[in-house]
Amino acid sequence: MRPADIIAKKRNGESLTREEISFIVRSYTRGGVEDYQMAALMMAIYFRGMDAEETLALTDEMMHSGAVLDFSEFGRVAIDKHSTGGVGDKTSLVIAPAVAATGVLVPMISGRALAHSGGTLDKLESIPGFRTNLSLDEFRSNIKNVGAALIGQTREVAPADRKLYALRDVTATVECRPLITASVMSKKMAEGVNGVVLDVKFGSGAFMKTQADAVALAELMIDVARKMKRACIALITDMNQPLGRAIGNSVEVIEALETLKGRGPADLKLLCRELAAEMILMSGLVKDIGQARDMYDRSISSGAALDKMREIIRAQEGNEQVIDDYRLLPSAARRHEITAPEGGCLRKIETESVGRACMILGAGRTRVDGPIDLSVGLEMNARIGDRIEKGASLVTVLYNDDDRLQAARRLIERAFTIGPEPVEPPPLISRVLR
Ligand code: URA
Repeated sequence: MRPADIIAKKRNGESLTREEISFIVRSYTRGGVEDYQMAALMMAIYFRGMDAEETLALTDEMMHSGAVLDFSEFGRVAIDKHSTGGVGDKTSLVIAPAVAATGVLVPMISGRALAHSGGTLDKLESIPGFRTNLSLDEFRSNIKNVGAALIGQTREVAPADRKLYALRDVTATVECRPLITASVMSKKMAEGVNGVVLDVKFGSGAFMKTQADAVALAELMIDVARKMKRACIALITDMNQPLGRAIGNSVEVIEALETLKGRGPADLKLLCRELAAEMILMSGLVKDIGQARDMYDRSISSGAALDKMREIIRAQEGNEQVIDDYRLLPSAARRHEITAPEGGCLRKIETESVGRACMILGAGRTRVDGPIDLSVGLEMNARIGDRIEKGASLVTVLYNDDDRLQAARRLIERAFTIGPEPVEPPPLISRVLR
């Protein structure tokens, strides 16, 4: 088989066979297919799509590109959650410890910043010393001893997604349903979990811009999970404004720690509670969602979730003192306020632009292996539906470089629509697909 023939077939709108998908994924993972060929194939899939059978085959091949884990010998149920990506989404940092503290195993393979959306791994790496590149043995031993571990796709687990995720990020091929499905579900299935709770986002800051597209993505992902004999449900959630107040890396860690301490912004608290409760319910520890919410609430109010976070950080060689002293986290040298040019009601936020502005400050990558600045970020000071006075601060920019500030500022200023008419804030959770 020749990669160019497979690319041409997809470019012409034909379906790929299982053998072709298997050949291309295996060759790419081994280094036998070049990045430029894979980028061309990703773009062809972006425009031509994949049917359900191709998507399942792609997921399965990517899952089996490395080791497939199995925690059944530990005698506890393993459940994970995954979000399709948004701005300010730090729920994993709250949910993993809070759910693990209830006795459910949470083996979490996460991603880095992708396009305008942040990545759990980059956020965690702002904790000094924190290792997201655990070996397979270390990962297994942390799951056994701590109950949760958060790592990236490695050369051992989901290596195909490790390469493809980074490639898609820099070739404008992220926003594609079959590719997102295969990327997310291959990682989750390789983790050896019994079930997955998905947070599928839609809106101006999500990869899916409409609710209908998010529902179609969620249905595809649930279909793949069920065919692979795993439990799966999806919450369809709003990403027309950032989640919580903080956007960036170290600033999001602080907001997640605040949420683990029972504080934190209302929207973040609500989404963490609902996603975590669904995980606890899926694990079979409780009979209904009310009991699952109670269990989550106790995990937070008793301090067990925060203690578990301490354990996770220690086990992954991070400095656990950050929990008590946020000054140990990287912090930007300067602050700049972006203010409202007029008074009125905040009607709309171009959330993708806000996410891009944060990347421009240095919080995300422009090259596959580029460095990032863990200290920069944004603090959102207004939410949709708020009444704003002229001159009030909309966003506080935490930055290190004046040129980057100017570029980010231009994007942020254009991202806000303020008008005289009041507007209802959008509901955060619109549907649960079971
Ligand atoms: N999250 C992933 O893991 N992969 C994607 O493609 C998008 C979001």
